[in-house]
Amino acid sequence: MKASNSDLISAATEARESAYSRYSGYSVGAAIIDDRGHIHVGCNVENVAYPLGNCAEASAIAAMVQQGGKLIERIAIVGGASTIGPCTPCGGCRQRIHEFADKNTVIIVMDDSKEWQEYSVEELLPASFHLPES
Ligand code: THU
Repeated sequence: MKASNSDLISAATEARESAYSRYSGYSVGAAIIDDRGHIHVGCNVENVAYPLGNCAEASAIAAMVQQGGKLIERIAIVGGASTIGPCTPCGGCRQRIHEFADKNTVIIVMDDSKEWQEYSVEELLPASFHLPES
């Protein structure tokens, strides 16, 4: 049976525990369910040379690709707080998600309020860049 949204959010919440966010103090976890029903997780990994840091979504996508996943069916991102709102994907990660998404891909975001929101890629990245054949 495929993972539910709650399962995916739990996986992202657990991945968030591993975040290496010593410079921002902002921990993020992400979990993807791919086209085969496999789950891949990632967390943000910062660096003393700040621009070298990786977002949680990038880490989870890298794990999916390494495992042979081709399509993000759903991705849950857990970060932020109820006082500041959930961690919606940064611009770069919207493009990264787009690369492995289709029109049915769902992006789920949640902070510590335990309520989540769902978006499509089109909502988060309208008029996206793509090559003629893609
Ligand atoms: N971050 C993510 O992991 N995903 C996003 O979509 C936005 C930001 C991370 C990067 C950095 O480690 C920290 O959150 C603060 O920006």
